[in-house]
Amino acid sequence: MGKKIIGVLGCGKIGSIITNQMIEKGVCRREDIIASVHRDSDCDRIRAFGVKVTTDNLRVITEASIVFVTLKPDSMTDALAPLHGHWHEDTLIISTVTGWSTQHLESAIGIAGIIRTMPNTPVAVGKGVIGWFPGRGVSKAQHERAKEILEKISFAPCVLKEDDLDKITALSGCGPAYVFQFVKYLIRAGARMGLPYAMSRELVLTTIEGSVALMRAEDVQHRKLHPEELTEAVSSPAGATLEGHIALEEHGFGNAILRAVQSAYNHVLAIKRKVEEHISK
Ligand SMILES: NC(=O)c1ccc[n+]([C@@H]2O[C@H](COP(=O)([O-])OP(=O)(O)OC[C@H]3O[C@@H](n4cnc5c(N)ncnc54)[C@H](OP(=O)(O)O)[C@@H]3O)[C@@H](O)[C@H]2O)c1
Repeated sequence: MGKKIIGVLGCGKIGSIITNQMIEKGVCRREDIIASVHRDSDCDRIRAFGVKVTTDNLRVITEASIVFVTLKPDSMTDALAPLHGHWHEDTLIISTVTGWSTQHLESAIGIAGIIRTMPNTPVAVGKGVIGWFPGRGVSKAQHERAKEILEKISFAPCVLKEDDLDKITALSGCGPAYVFQFVKYLIRAGARMGLPYAMSRELVLTTIEGSVALMRAEDVQHRKLHPEELTEAVSSPAGATLEGHIALEEHGFGNAILRAVQSAYNHVLAIKRKVEEHISK
């Protein structure tokens, strides 16, 4: 086994994002990555990254000592079954697959070093989150190696309870979509008042970046301000911001966000139950 080779099994959207970031952040050389795809027609898309590409999953797990599993939940059984018994005992698996617990992965793959993760798409631009949980069979050296890789390419909190990954999925995994929707309506609001779309877009994105920077900054007492305090600071009595803020509340803004995250979370739990039913058959 090539000790330094990293494999990506099922290199679709998230697999490509991780592959690119590993190259960009110097986790390994591009020629030390081998990725698999389902169809020959997909090979050129991956070859463009300068990595090795194959439609043979067995080749990936034979050559690599670390394997990212980035398949869709419903492709897992078909893709993994032919590989059973062929994995190297000490391969480190890093899975992004929604709903597949470390225990399910362990029994489907048949080896112990399993890390389960939940990335989000901003990993593509080096501003992403990858929450992760090490399975019970992960060695200290594998734990350290996974931490090193994940922290190079993202903000990578390691959770103590595996179930917390379902919550991370609903919050930061799905989170970019909530933000994109918020941005869409702000841009539309600017355009509705007559601002050009391009200017409205820039105003909104810069306002969001600035607001995030303010939330990350500390005040003179080295305190990070709560969003509510920052809102109050821009809401003068009888002022325009206060009117806007009240309208947000009247139209259920807070509840819509709470519901969005809860609905996503419920859906993640439903996927998990489906995977459990499927595996126990
Ligand atoms: N996208 C996200 O933002 C995100 C975030 C966090 C976690 N995830 C999780 O990450 C996993 C991948 O998601 P994704 O959005 O990247 O899906 P995706 O784009 O569909 O990637 C999966 C890839 O696996 C390929 N594939 C299917 N069967 C295969 C086989 N037997 N051998 C080799 N390759 C095979 C698919 O090819 P075909 O399409 O040709 O079948 C596809 O290219 C999912 O479990 C998802 O829940 C995704």
